[in-house]
Amino acid sequence: MTQSTPSDPQNTPSDPRNPSARSADPSADVSALSQEEKIALTGGADFWHLHDAPSLGLGQIQVSDGPHGLRQQSGAADNLGLNDSVEATCFPPAVGLASTWSRSSAAAVAGAIAEEALAGGVSVVLGPGMNIKRSPLCGRNFEYLSEDPHLSGELATAFVDGMQERGVGTSVKHFALNNQETDRMRVDVDVDERTMHEIYLRAFRTVVTRAQPWTVMCSYNSVDGTPVARNRRLLTEILREQWGFEGLVVSDWGAVEDRPASVQAGLDLQMPADPFGEQDLREAVARGDVDQEALDRAAGKAVALLRRALAAADPDAAYDAESHHRIAVEAARRALVLLENDGTLPLAEPGDSAGTVAGAGAGADAEGLVVIGDFAQTPRYQGAGSSHVNPTRLTDALGAIRAIAGEDVPFARGFVPGAADGETDAAPSSESLRAEAVELARGARTAVLFLGLGEDVESEGFDRTDIELPAAQLQLLEEVREVAERVVVVLSNGSVVRLPEALRGVNALLEGWLLGQGGGEATADILFGRANPSGRLAETIPLRLQDTPSYLHFPGEDSHVRYGEGLFVGYRGFDAVDAEVAYPFGHGLSFTTFAQSDLVVTASAGGGIEVEVTVENTGDRAGREIVQAYVSVPDSRVTRAPRELKGFAEVELAPGESRRVGISIPAEDLQYWSPAAGGWVVESGTYRVGVGASSRDLRAAADVEIAGDEPRPVMTMTSTPLEIRALPGGEKALGSLLGDSGLFADPEMLKMAEQIPVGRFTGLGGFSREQLQEMLDRVNKG
Ligand code: BGC
Repeated sequence: MTQSTPSDPQNTPSDPRNPSARSADPSADVSALSQEEKIALTGGADFWHLHDAPSLGLGQIQVSDGPHGLRQQSGAADNLGLNDSVEATCFPPAVGLASTWSRSSAAAVAGAIAEEALAGGVSVVLGPGMNIKRSPLCGRNFEYLSEDPHLSGELATAFVDGMQERGVGTSVKHFALNNQETDRMRVDVDVDERTMHEIYLRAFRTVVTRAQPWTVMCSYNSVDGTPVARNRRLLTEILREQWGFEGLVVSDWGAVEDRPASVQAGLDLQMPADPFGEQDLREAVARGDVDQEALDRAAGKAVALLRRALAAADPDAAYDAESHHRIAVEAARRALVLLENDGTLPLAEPGDSAGTVAGAGAGADAEGLVVIGDFAQTPRYQGAGSSHVNPTRLTDALGAIRAIAGEDVPFARGFVPGAADGETDAAPSSESLRAEAVELARGARTAVLFLGLGEDVESEGFDRTDIELPAAQLQLLEEVREVAERVVVVLSNGSVVRLPEALRGVNALLEGWLLGQGGGEATADILFGRANPSGRLAETIPLRLQDTPSYLHFPGEDSHVRYGEGLFVGYRGFDAVDAEVAYPFGHGLSFTTFAQSDLVVTASAGGGIEVEVTVENTGDRAGREIVQAYVSVPDSRVTRAPRELKGFAEVELAPGESRRVGISIPAEDLQYWSPAAGGWVVESGTYRVGVGASSRDLRAAADVEIAGDEPRPVMTMTSTPLEIRALPGGEKALGSLLGDSGLFADPEMLKMAEQIPVGRFTGLGGFSREQLQEMLDRVNKG
């Protein structure tokens, strides 16, 4: 969203450390407010500030985007100033951060953003974005973490903790089911109960129950016919009553079309300021259409937020841009995913052949190295829209490569990124740039080729229509492969691109996603082995868009989208139909090798699972392994994906070092949502835990019995013999009813009859209602 004229950014309270900011008796606070103050507090004071509460002596606070760095708009910024914000460190956007699979990286990045927020007088940062990547086409996938709710929930929790520990609030967004940009302000999401809870709400539930974000941002879309901004089921019943959310619910910018209905449904704060919404609420309260209780709740949440924010505000706060840049570089190093490598990487540094430079490998010599591709010089490092950060500095891969391998490493642009292609007097076309690049590559020992997507195809506000890399880039690749001895490709893209055979067949392939301002440096460090790649895919790379589970149901039509693939999102869907993929969820190579052994899996006292496995670095350089634990329930009574990620751990190991790694899977992570029971249930039975290096590279598996907590279903006249026989004592009760009636004596007859509701056996079997009820009573007694 764009910005209206902000009020004075210095407009924090005269003394933010005023003790009044700390004393907090919520109900006394609410009673001390005038009715007008309460009404005002349900909306913003302007684009980025909340109203103050003069009768409590509390000043305004400021909120700002966005997830991977601060986008604080200055007082002078124009109305369309998305890209004109105060300089801040641009950390890897969510797509990069998630491929670190590192809670510590998420926390470090969030902590640094919090320091910048405090220094800028910002109390709440509008992130993390944590919607599930349902389709690779979603224009905002670069701002979201993963296709998997466990990974999303864990990383978002670490992010929220890392930020809030420093006294800056978060706004987890966009709650909920905002998985596309097409028609995002109107589209009505039609999703079944299980899928909603298990896939789309699960990560939000994790972060709310474990980290209590200060705020949750509701999304633009509708769910089951009601806009989320006034959806009582989501905002009150699920978020507050089921999960115990204690913070404030803020609208996405412009999501509210009816403030009274929103406040009544559970929304606390409409952003940005809307005088019409305020007037509507004033009149609705006077008419009694909005309960005083609802208004008091909303005003109380706003006051509580003001208090905790003002207590933490620090007018003397400052941050060290250099150390934050280092955090950005380190996160970027961990984010790069090595998809292929035939030993070409790491590249040797100059003079390395004699083995004089520590950490370099036996790959290509720095001599004979050429760099091709516009993105090497002009990095693509973040997505477009409200999360766009104005970086404090920017490293490019070409500069970083030359700093290591020599200023004379030749470079050619190779193509024009984005849509503005075509020869003009002022600018060359991709065609002429390609010819020049191919000449440069001719005979080179190693050509490092930087390919990717331009900012104009990946943005908030619209979806992509395909997952293709530009044809000019693919042609360049083909031609460079013909003339260079070895080809290494580095990709920059905010969401999945199709990787044709020509790309998968290069000597080394690095998926760089979007890496923030330190990406250039990080990429060079990986190419030359100064850092060992350890990123893992947080989303499957399909062979074709058509293979993706949501393909036939995205993005819907007439403002309606049906999540027809149900639970089978991402790898869950590919695995269910055993589809071939380009690279599976969790995949990522290293310059060293790891072995996993001695898996022990036990049931924990709390009803969950404890996993222990030995991980050994079997190669010759230090590295970070991500141990991934996937759970299956082979004899499950309910529909399930073949395996689901339920735990992961990162471990750094020196060459030859081994360590015992533990992963705890709490009972709540084993739950599935049972529409029949109307809640979360752990099924009893045998659970299989597979441990390995990706969803399709499980190195060991073990079974464990889990007691479960499913309620014993009550058998009624509509229950079937099949259901009755599945219960302990059911077979016996049924047998005593049937006696030697012979009804089920014939196995074929039995098969046909076992799905008939027992109440029908009055006519079909000649039993009396009393006989049938007696049998049911016996079963239900256990
Ligand atoms: C986006 C949010 C963002 C807000 C404020 C909206 O358009 O969806 O993610 O936080 O604008 O800029």
